[in-house]
Amino acid sequence: MSTWNRASWRDKPIKQQPEYADADHLRRVTQKLNELPPLIFAGEVRLLKKQFADVVAGEAFLLQGGDCAESFSEFRADNIRDSFKAIMQMAIVMTFAGSSPVVKVGRMGGQFAKPRSSDDETIGGVTLPSYRGDIINGVEFTAEARMPDPDRMIQAYNQSASTLNLLRAFATGGMADLNQVHQWNLDFVQDSPLEEKYEELAGRIQESLAFMAACGVSSRTHRTLRETDFYTSHEALLLEYEEAFTRQDSLTGDWYDTSAHMLWIGDRTRQLDGAHIEFMRGIKNPIGVKAGPSMDPDELIRLIDAVNPENESGRLNVIVRMGADKVGEHLPDLIRAVEREGRDILWSCDPMHGNTIKSSSGFKTRPVHAVLAEMKNFFEVHNSEGTYGGGVHLEMTGKNVTECTGGAFNISDEDLKSRYHTHCDPRLNADQALELAFLIADSLKAAKRH
Ligand code: PEP
Ligand code: CO
Repeated sequence: MSTWNRASWRDKPIKQQPEYADADHLRRVTQKLNELPPLIFAGEVRLLKKQFADVVAGEAFLLQGGDCAESFSEFRADNIRDSFKAIMQMAIVMTFAGSSPVVKVGRMGGQFAKPRSSDDETIGGVTLPSYRGDIINGVEFTAEARMPDPDRMIQAYNQSASTLNLLRAFATGGMADLNQVHQWNLDFVQDSPLEEKYEELAGRIQESLAFMAACGVSSRTHRTLRETDFYTSHEALLLEYEEAFTRQDSLTGDWYDTSAHMLWIGDRTRQLDGAHIEFMRGIKNPIGVKAGPSMDPDELIRLIDAVNPENESGRLNVIVRMGADKVGEHLPDLIRAVEREGRDILWSCDPMHGNTIKSSSGFKTRPVHAVLAEMKNFFEVHNSEGTYGGGVHLEMTGKNVTECTGGAFNISDEDLKSRYHTHCDPRLNADQALELAFLIADSLKAAKRH
């Protein structure tokens, strides 16, 4: 293989990139990005990779979740707080009911660029370039908004820095204290049938904490009871941006993409000879790759060899997103190829992207029953192959949105219009995500008994 550098992707065929009209403008912006401070530190990335290795060993579970696309207009402290709470709530259910440590990774602080199935969009006879995420162009259907603007990368960076700042404050400043277990329950979930189940679990946690405090172990004396590790991730799609934040670590001499702790490659940009694989193979971060139904077992092995030739455990997360009715058919062959070749993979399930449908009311939606079914089938396949399904990758929010149908409040096609706020794909709301967390906890417990 040819030598890697942070710009070597430029010599490869590339998909899903914007066409910037003014090359000088783009150059000025990327020069500026090159000078901006990194968002994360390489030492944190190494810690996350160790935690991923724990997941591969079956000793922890990966919970990755957040918006399909972050947006400039929905950027508010309460949105970040509520997503953080929803993730904490899911994590505590899995930790307590599933007896497993949970590695928490947000699709936050940089999840802006979106791959699209078509380069343009036609409404009422007018055709314009597709919306590609706020880091590239605007969602409004006007020629001006849809023009890619390099300055948006600066705004995305600034928003990511503020988001990360608040997440770090929540993770270490008291919001993640286990004594807050009741506070993580968001208001609207309190009217849900899951409320009782969650409150019962929170009550038991509170009781255990009181007992431990009486023994001298409390969140005042023990950091692990009052703080958590919270990591960020996004799809490494817009390589102009990712290259600018790829920096050489002064301690090790290795290259890290410092725009997030973890990066992943989407199902549409994982071509073996393409620019995205070329870029990702050289950075030391833990990376993910989405695997849809078209992923072939031999292709997966070649991809693993391209990005993780040393078979380093914790380096590679394969995010399976087949659809509820396809995972049983395609996943066993992928697992068998990986087992045959003896590769260490963190397997996680994205039960969202293979279950997207158009509702009768015209909205893009996902039925919660299909999301739950894909997750369940994913665990069943791993159980019967004797392997470990160690993670979940979700599009979710702490807001009381109506974007996915079903769940405890039984959101109908007709209800979707009431609070449909996503800039891209439909997200689970906190009560739908909580339902999934209980299902995962049951599976984790069953896997432990095996
Ligand atoms: C996504 O995660 O938002 C996404 C576009 O996923 P995929 O690449 O699996 O389609
Ligand atoms: Co999506």
